[in-house]
Amino acid sequence: MKKRLFSGIQPSGDVHIGNYLGAIKNWVRLIERYDCFFCIVDYHAITIEYNPEEMQRRILNAAAVNIAAGLDPNQCIIFVQSHVPEHTELAWILNSVTPMGHLERMTQFKDKSKQHRENINAGLFTYPVLQAADIMLYKGEAVPVGEDQVQHIELAREIARKFNQRYGETFPDPVELLSEAPRIMGLDGKTKMSKSLGNYISLVETPESIGKKLATAVTDENRKRRADPGNPDICNLFTLHKHFSQKEQIERVNTECRTAGIGCVECKKILSENVIAVLNPIREKYESLIRDQGYLSDLLRSCAKKCKAIAENTMADVRKKMGLT
Ligand code: TRP
Repeated sequence: MKKRLFSGIQPSGDVHIGNYLGAIKNWVRLIERYDCFFCIVDYHAITIEYNPEEMQRRILNAAAVNIAAGLDPNQCIIFVQSHVPEHTELAWILNSVTPMGHLERMTQFKDKSKQHRENINAGLFTYPVLQAADIMLYKGEAVPVGEDQVQHIELAREIARKFNQRYGETFPDPVELLSEAPRIMGLDGKTKMSKSLGNYISLVETPESIGKKLATAVTDENRKRRADPGNPDICNLFTLHKHFSQKEQIERVNTECRTAGIGCVECKKILSENVIAVLNPIREKYESLIRDQGYLSDLLRSCAKKCKAIAENTMADVRKKMGLT
């Protein structure tokens, strides 16, 4: 039997190539080895200010982008957290075995309370408990996350152990699966690629727009003229070449940039073609999914149904062990 894997997807508007290389691409590889559950975490998303009118679009968008990028719904489960209300029931229960002190130590809580001073709500504080419930409801063991979420998974592990100690062996230890996520810089070459900074290429960017964005992207700033030798080691576009281009092209850019044999314009042209070739099928798939929202909604509902069956089982066991039935 395959081990169960669980991860959460924020229902956000736009996914960029940094997210793809850092997370989604890795998930796609894990689908074969694990019994995979991917959850669009709308209950988590409401802990920061948002527009209710936009939420459905954000959820469907997140589903469409991730499916288009390779989370094949025939091989894994992709569902919406609020379609399975047991997530919140288990979260409440787990609140009662979670020490306040641990939650106070969470760096994401500290960061988010600084960012959203006007809305520091209790949900933001107990966010990691809901995250633990997400995983534990399906008895998830492998949790692929980025560095920034490790603290939350460690806490989930403690919560699972605390529950087991108090009410009897119920949950396996959830363990973080850290893949080496490449640090993808933005097109300004200075800061990490991020949605809020607007320095990104979307995973569903059109070919024209990819070309335009790369044409103005910052390269090795010491290379002022075409005749100057460049240094690929510090050029952000070379990093992108390493992820999108063919081996021979990468080698060529690497050597010829140093001798000014190839200029930034040509280098960018090659990169554009390769990025377009990788993203085109993803964008096309995305567009066809987004056009057929009936299909997408049905798919999410039928995945949620499978989740619900598992969740109900877990909750029946939990309630029984806790003397609640
Ligand atoms: N908190 C995670 C993030 O911000 C998303 C998430 C919610 C999650 N529930 C999860 C990740 C369960 C892993 C497991 O990225």
